[in-house]
Amino acid sequence: MKALILSGGEGTRLRPITHTNAKQLVPVANKPILFYGLEAIVECGIKDIGMIVGQTKEEIKEACGDGSKWGARITYIEQKVPLGLAHAVKIAQDYIGDEPFVMFLGDNLIKDGIRSFVKEFKVKKPNSLILLAEVKEPQRFGVAELRRGRVIRLIEKPKDPPSNLALVGVYIFDKSIFPAVNSISPSWREELEITDAIQYLIDHNFKVHPHIITGWWKDTGRLEDMLEANRIILDTLKSKILGEVDGTSKIYGKVVIEKGVRIINSTLRGPVVIGTETRIVNSYIGPFTSIYHHVTVEDSEIEHSIILEESIIRGIGARIEDSLIGKNVNVTRSDLLPKAYRFMLGDSSQVGLI
Ligand code: TTP
Repeated sequence: MKALILSGGEGTRLRPITHTNAKQLVPVANKPILFYGLEAIVECGIKDIGMIVGQTKEEIKEACGDGSKWGARITYIEQKVPLGLAHAVKIAQDYIGDEPFVMFLGDNLIKDGIRSFVKEFKVKKPNSLILLAEVKEPQRFGVAELRRGRVIRLIEKPKDPPSNLALVGVYIFDKSIFPAVNSISPSWREELEITDAIQYLIDHNFKVHPHIITGWWKDTGRLEDMLEANRIILDTLKSKILGEVDGTSKIYGKVVIEKGVRIINSTLRGPVVIGTETRIVNSYIGPFTSIYHHVTVEDSEIEHSIILEESIIRGIGARIEDSLIGKNVNVTRSDLLPKAYRFMLGDSSQVGLI
């Protein structure tokens, strides 16, 4: 069995971060989301991984390399334009060949992995196995209708949902998916939809089975999903202090402090993770905050946020909350006169002032 991870796409819902960065590499608890998917796949004994990449291909290649970090072999497959999930399958046909494969969306996080899912496919050998989860608002998702243990219909964002079972974004297909992706036409949004390809399988009497997960999962396409994923994963961490914490600082709850970190006259209330070489001075870092490597936080308060590498946050009078701050960002208080807010913000930035 092989795997196909989709790490292309545009990531419009996470702009401005995705103007310059791959959303699959945004860290959750200081580890890129994509790495959780890679680990889940390798855990199932799958070594051959095709990685669909788009505009951010260089960044993804640099982060994942040839896959040897995970004991896997990664082959990059370039998708010039993100023409849909089924289009990604179509261009992977030569790589996949005749083997069944797990298709995994690179921005999805499945907390307990996909072992039982892969096992069920190997035992029951349907043509396709679809990962589903019960959700509260099925109207917001692609929803599956089941009958006698099979998927009989898929409906995108139904007004009147036939079930509360949403498509999670992980699938297993055998080679019957290729005639399907080669037969369907683009949807109203000009994409080849994987739901249409699966419907094609159903309509042509292939066996499409459901697999319902009970554990936590998230499609991290939006800021609030990213923060939720960060909360859930931070909660599972074990405390570890490798950096320096001075005598006037206070550490409460689960806190990970990596090598080269300096915590000076500050309070950290976990769960919190602080990446290598970061400095926290005269500050408060509250629950559910991930601060990546080489960041400086001085005279500031941050809670329930994700701060990416090499950013500087200094002298902020109010608490920063519910925020995702990109790489190399400066949020500082200035003594320049006249007194004024001075911004240099990229397209689609969001600023909330008090
Ligand atoms: P989506 O989140 O559905 O699409 P997107 O990344 O374009 O984001 P947005 O809706 O905010 O614009 O994609 C799910 C995953 O699949 C994600 O990791 C990107 C990847 N993908 C591809 O690799 N190729 C594609 O053609 C599409 C549509 C998505």
